[in-house]
Amino acid sequence: MTKAYPYENAPRLPDGEGIDLRALVTCSNRVELEIGPGRGWFMVERVEADPGVAIVGLEVRRKWAQTVDERLARRGFGDRARVFAEDARLALHRLADGCVDRAYVHFPDPWWKKRHQKRLVVCAEVLDQLGRVLPQGGELFVQTDVQERAESYEQLISAHPSFSAVNAEPWIDDHEFVARSPRERKAIEHGLPVYRLYYARL
Ligand SMILES: C[S@@+](CC[C@H](N)C(=O)[O-])C[C@H]1O[C@@H](n2cnc3c(N)ncnc32)[C@H](O)[C@@H]1O
Repeated sequence: MTKAYPYENAPRLPDGEGIDLRALVTCSNRVELEIGPGRGWFMVERVEADPGVAIVGLEVRRKWAQTVDERLARRGFGDRARVFAEDARLALHRLADGCVDRAYVHFPDPWWKKRHQKRLVVCAEVLDQLGRVLPQGGELFVQTDVQERAESYEQLISAHPSFSAVNAEPWIDDHEFVARSPRERKAIEHGLPVYRLYYARL
């Protein structure tokens, strides 16, 4: 007898194209997107901090998608925050134009070998899709503790025609989102530098 995979029922996005995230969450003000929420504490803290925010996570690991989606529901945020077990590089293509007010990518791409380059989440194709799903004035926030990665993200995003720094330059010392991602919290606790980039959709 084959054993059932424990997370095979992790939530998935609806089938089809043109998915409007505003139809999947109850939102009084803005809809945000997190790519790769992992253990998901940024999403929990974000909806706790701002009642006007709804947030959707796209997490490729089914275990974390299901665990965090259930945790959000248990804490009473199931209407405003959902996590779907999806590869963001594929799922972004299926989202409707302009349906995300702000996108977060916290500490992505923990792969260092050349053969894993094709897995990178912050890449031209994903930026093209983020440029489509964010409306004009929408925001993109990316952070990492790996300096070389941060520098390559900065070059890629700053050269992309859809994005321009929110402030005079893209690097910011800290953000005002109140919430912290698990990796961000750990980096802060260990006194590691965190490189943060903040862009607006042109
Ligand atoms: C290094 S962890 C960071 C987790 C969390 N963002 C944080 O800052 O603590 C990267 C996360 O991105 C997820 N991930 C990697 N590639 C992905 C993809 N293509 N689509 C969605 N999630 C992805 C991983 O499963 C993992 O949860």
